[in-house]
Amino acid sequence: MNHKGSIRLETKRIVLRKLKVSDAEQVFKNWASDDEVSKYMRWTTHKSMKDTVNWLKEEEKNYKKHNYYTWGIELKETKELIGSISALYRKGEKRYEIGYGIGKKYWRQGYTTESLKRVMDFLINEVGIKKFRCAHAKLNPVSGIVMQKVGFKYVKDDYSESFDKTKKYESKVYYLDIK
Ligand SMILES: CC(C)(COP(=O)(O)OP(=O)(O)OC[C@H]1O[C@@H](n2cnc3c(N)ncnc32)[C@H](O)[C@@H]1OP(=O)(O)O)[C@@H](O)C(=O)NCCC(=O)NCCS
Repeated sequence: MNHKGSIRLETKRIVLRKLKVSDAEQVFKNWASDDEVSKYMRWTTHKSMKDTVNWLKEEEKNYKKHNYYTWGIELKETKELIGSISALYRKGEKRYEIGYGIGKKYWRQGYTTESLKRVMDFLINEVGIKKFRCAHAKLNPVSGIVMQKVGFKYVKDDYSESFDKTKKYESKVYYLDIK
C-alpha cells in the first residue's frame, strides 16, 4: 500500500482538499447544521459553529495520519465548499468504508458521483486499496444509487447506529473488491 493521505485531487468541476478550521462557517452553513443532511449519517446535526470548529480541529489532527482520507468538496467555479467525502479504515472487516454528504442546495447535480469516481480512482490506482465497504440506511436509497454508479455491489442487510447512539436504522451494505 502506498498511502498518501488526503492529498488535493481534481475533477472537471471539483477540487477535493483537506478541511481546515477556517472552513467552519461554510461547513456549518452549507451542510453540517442541516437535519436533512445528517438524518442518515453517523454524525449528529451541528447545533452551533462550536460543534463545527470542534469537528474540524479533530480533522486537522487526523490529517497527520498517512492513511486518513477525508476531503472537503469544493466547487471550482464558485470556491464554495459543498460537502465532504471520506474513506475510513474498518479494522473488523479490513475494508475502507466510504462516506459522503453534501448540502441540500447542491443535490442532484452529479457532484457526489463525480467526487466519488475521482476518490475511488485515487484509492485504487494510486494508493493500492483493494477492499471497500459502503452502507446506507434502507430509508435513504438515493445513496445506494451513487454507490452502484461507481461499481459497488449489494452484499447484505445490516443495522447501523450513529456515533452517539441516538439514531438507529436498518441499512444495506455494499462492497467493491478489486481483483
Ligand atoms: C445521497 C447524496 C450524497 C447524493 O448526492 P448527489 O450529489 O445529489 O448525487 P448525484 O447528483 O451524484 O446523483 C447520482 C444519482 O443518484 C440518483 N439521485 C440522486 N438524488 C436523487 C433524488 N433526490 N431522487 C432520485 N434520485 C436521485 C440519480 O440517479 C442520480 O443520477 P442522475 O442525476 O444522473 O439521474 C446527497 O443526497 C446527500 O448528501 N444526502 C444526505 C447525506 C447522505 O444521505 N449521505 C449518504 C449516507 S450513506
